[in-house]
Amino acid sequence: MSDPSRADFVVVANRLPVQHSMSQGNEEWRPSPGGLVSALTSVLQSRNGLWIGWLGVSEHGEPPATYEGIPLKAVSISRGEYDDYYLGFSNATLWPLYHDAIRAPTFHRHWWHTYEDINMRFATAAAEAVAPGGTVWIHDYQLQLVPNMLRQLRPDVRIGFFLHIPFPPSELFMQLPWRREILAGLLGADLIGFQVPHVASNFSRIARRLVGATGTDSILNFEGRTIRVGAFPITVDSAQIIALASDPGIRERALEIRRDLGNPEVVLLGVDRLDYTKGIQQRINALTELYADGSLSGGKHVVVQVAVPSRESDAHYDLERHNLEQVVSEMNGDHGLVGSPVIHYLHQNLPFDELLALYLAADIMLVTPFRDGMNLVAKEYVACRTDLTGKLVLSEFAGAAAELRGAFMVNPHDLEGIKEAIRLALKAGPKEAKARMSRMRRKTLRRDVYDWAQSFLAALQQGTA
Ligand code: G6P
Repeated sequence: MSDPSRADFVVVANRLPVQHSMSQGNEEWRPSPGGLVSALTSVLQSRNGLWIGWLGVSEHGEPPATYEGIPLKAVSISRGEYDDYYLGFSNATLWPLYHDAIRAPTFHRHWWHTYEDINMRFATAAAEAVAPGGTVWIHDYQLQLVPNMLRQLRPDVRIGFFLHIPFPPSELFMQLPWRREILAGLLGADLIGFQVPHVASNFSRIARRLVGATGTDSILNFEGRTIRVGAFPITVDSAQIIALASDPGIRERALEIRRDLGNPEVVLLGVDRLDYTKGIQQRINALTELYADGSLSGGKHVVVQVAVPSRESDAHYDLERHNLEQVVSEMNGDHGLVGSPVIHYLHQNLPFDELLALYLAADIMLVTPFRDGMNLVAKEYVACRTDLTGKLVLSEFAGAAAELRGAFMVNPHDLEGIKEAIRLALKAGPKEAKARMSRMRRKTLRRDVYDWAQSFLAALQQGTA
C-alpha cells in the first residue's frame, strides 16, 4: 500500500525554493532567484514531488506549506550550526577549495562535525519523505554526505546527486582532511552529475585512487554497487527569457536605462554575486586602465556593475565588498565627468525583469570569474539577445566557456588579456558580432533547463527495471 504522505520524487537542496522578503512594508515569501527553481518546479509538479531545504537565516516564522502546489519541508538550522555548517565548512572550507583555492580554505574539525550533523538531518528528512522505491535528487556541495547517509537509511530508493560548482583537481582535493568521507558520501548515489566532462572524469580518477573504486570514468564500482558519473551542463529557461526579451515593458525599460546612462555609444555590463571567485575587481582594474590609456572614454563608454549581496557575514566577502567599492570610487574619481560617472555600481538584488532590461541595454557583457561551475549570467545574456547583437567577454575558467565558443575568451588572471579582449569586442563590427552571437545562441538554445533536469533524471532511472 502506498503511503499518500510520502512522495515518489524528492528534491533535496540547501535552500528551499522560496525566500522571505519585505515589499512596501508587507512580508511575503517569493521564489528564490535562479534557474534551478524554474527547472525543478515543473518536474516536481509532474511527478508528485516534494522539496526539502533550509529557510536561510530567518526570524520570519513558518514558510508556506507549498510552493506552486509543491509540498515544502523545511530543515531547521540553529544560529551556531549556521556558523559552522553554512559559513564555516560549506563556504569557508569547501567553497574556496573547490574554486581553485582563490582564498585559502580553512579546516576546522568542529565545522566538519556540524557539516556531518546537518547532512544527517537532511538525509533523515529525505528518508522520511520518500515513498518506497522513489527517487531522491540531492543538490550541491553543502550536502555531499547525504547520498550515502540516505542509502544507509533507505536502500530501496534511487539517489541522484548534482554538483553545481567545480570539483577541484586532485592536488587541491587531497588537502581536505575528510577527503575519503566526502568521496564515500557522494558514492552513495546511483548517479553523480557534474557541469563539464573533464570534471566528471577527474572525480572518477580521484575515486579510483583514493577509495579503491574500480571501473571507467563514467561507470564506477564501489562496495558492490555501480555508480554512474557524467556531465550534465546546466542551462537557463530560454523560452521564458526569449518571451520576456520581447515584452514591450522590458524593452522600453532597456531604452530608458540607456537614456539614464546619458545615451552612451557603448554600455559595458557586469552582473555577479558579490563573490571573490567572480573576478570583479580584476575586471574593474582592467577597465580603469582602458580609461587611462584612452581605449575607453567618459561619456562615450559607460560601465554598469551589479553586485548581488551574498554571504555578508563572512569576512572574505566583507573585504571583497570593501575593496570593490574602493576601486569603483577610484575609477569614477579618476575618469568620471560631472553628471556622468564612468561606472554605475549597484549592490542590490534586482528583480529578474530589471536584470533582463540591463542585458538588453548592454552592448558588451563582461563575465570574468576566476573559476565558476557554469555561470548562468553568460547564458542569460546570450538567450535574451534575440536580434543577434551584443558581445560577450567570457572567462576560460567558467563552465560556460566549453559551450559559448563565440565569446571573446579571456584568462581572468591576465589583466592585459582582459584589456585586449575588451578592445577586440569594442572593435568587432556588426557582422562579426552577429556571427559570434548566432553561434552561441545555437548552442545555448538547443536545450533548456527542463531538458537538463529531464536528461539527468532519465540517466538516473537507467538501470532500474
Ligand atoms: C551558488 C551555489 C548554490 C548557492 C548559490 C547562492 O550558485 O552553487 O548552492 O545556493 O551560490 O549562495 P547562498 O550561499 O546564498 O545559497
